[in-house]
Amino acid sequence: MRGDAVIYQIYPRSFFDKNGDGIGDVAGMVAKLDHLAWLGVDALWTSPTYPSPNVDWGYDVADHRAVHPELGTLDDLDTLIAEAEKRGIEVWLDLVPNHTSDRHEWFSERPEYYVWSKTIPNDWKSIFTKGSAWQWHARRRRYYLHQFAPQQPDLDWWNTDVRAEFEHIIRFWLDRGVSGFRIDVAHGLVKDRELRDGVEHMRGRPEVHDVYRSWQQIAREYDPKPTLMGETVVKLEQMFAYYQGLDLAQNFDFCTAAFELDELRPLVEKTMHGLPPGAIPTWFGSNHDHSRLATRWGAGDERRARAALFLVLTLPGVAILYQGDEIALEDGDVPENRVLDVADPSRDPERTPLPWTRSGEEWREPWLPLGDTRRNVEEQRAETSSTLHYVRDLIRARRELGDGYETLPSPRGVWAYRRGAKTCVLNMTPRRATYDGTRLDPWEGVIV
Ligand code: NOJ
Ligand code: CA
Repeated sequence: MRGDAVIYQIYPRSFFDKNGDGIGDVAGMVAKLDHLAWLGVDALWTSPTYPSPNVDWGYDVADHRAVHPELGTLDDLDTLIAEAEKRGIEVWLDLVPNHTSDRHEWFSERPEYYVWSKTIPNDWKSIFTKGSAWQWHARRRRYYLHQFAPQQPDLDWWNTDVRAEFEHIIRFWLDRGVSGFRIDVAHGLVKDRELRDGVEHMRGRPEVHDVYRSWQQIAREYDPKPTLMGETVVKLEQMFAYYQGLDLAQNFDFCTAAFELDELRPLVEKTMHGLPPGAIPTWFGSNHDHSRLATRWGAGDERRARAALFLVLTLPGVAILYQGDEIALEDGDVPENRVLDVADPSRDPERTPLPWTRSGEEWREPWLPLGDTRRNVEEQRAETSSTLHYVRDLIRARRELGDGYETLPSPRGVWAYRRGAKTCVLNMTPRRATYDGTRLDPWEGVIV
């Protein structure tokens, strides 16, 4: 992976539906590879494509070595990897090691792979049910742990057989040509051995770094070395430690910050300051769990969405775009009777289908309702002043930026930073501004 890679996150069911059954599929990803190559992305990370009962839409994995029949076949995935490679694009999968589906054969045949207790041992809460994370299992007459839905039992990472299983799974995919993994709940795998009270004993345990160090050893056997990127939902201060074993740790404090100069700039400075030498930062403003950046940061103003994209694409390191960011797609409207998410509040608004055309004809009966199609790929490709072209131009321009980051003095509301020989200037206000003789429109970003 190049140090300035642009990673494009695909949420498979809502990307592109090749066979017209209302569910995006792997063949749909293949069909749009030329478009992604045109955009200039280096890698695509797809949310889970594994067989799953869809309690958590793929994040409840029932088989780690196959493709969900709704999404295609293993052959389709092999085709995706091969066709992507021809276009210089890497394919990264989502690895879900914290838990499995309760329908995974391990849960019935290998109960020792999971975390059990005869009584409710502590105060740990489930993120989805908000009640106890311990669920009674009538047949086994014990409780099992689930940080997420009760249908997502947590694996026991103190069990060396669990570790061996995942090493095999990782090799299985790397041998097929996968170039990287986004690791789900990367901060959560290892639980306190004594199951002590306190969320700090359920997540963010230091022992987890050993797991990633061992995966890194496996990755080093491959050339080019695949990338390990963690979904590290931790405070920035805790994030840095994940670079011991991982290549990339997702910066969630950045993603969840308000779109304000006084909040974002110190965060960027703190990130750059705290990273171990040589470590590559990540920047993103959307994913399938968070309101899209055009809604949350853009607040309905496309100029603000572009300012956010400018930032994500000109800060040093890796930029992650979530499908739709490139056209400033906003969250969809999902009426109560169409809600499918297990979480509350529902994450469906950021998971609605990607509009490829204004008529939306490519989504006849989509699994989630198609939102506003006024921002769509077809029209934005035809219009060179569109956000889609803006993003494409920025992806090219970022290749010319130098290393490092340095905040430069600037007038109020303007963010200026040095990237080698270039300077990036972003007007973070709804008013005109000037920086060193350069006139800036509201929310405008320029590279000088
Ligand atoms: C994080 C994933 O991004 C989210 O969608 C999922 O619900 C949880 N992990 C549980 O796997
Ligand atoms: Ca389909």
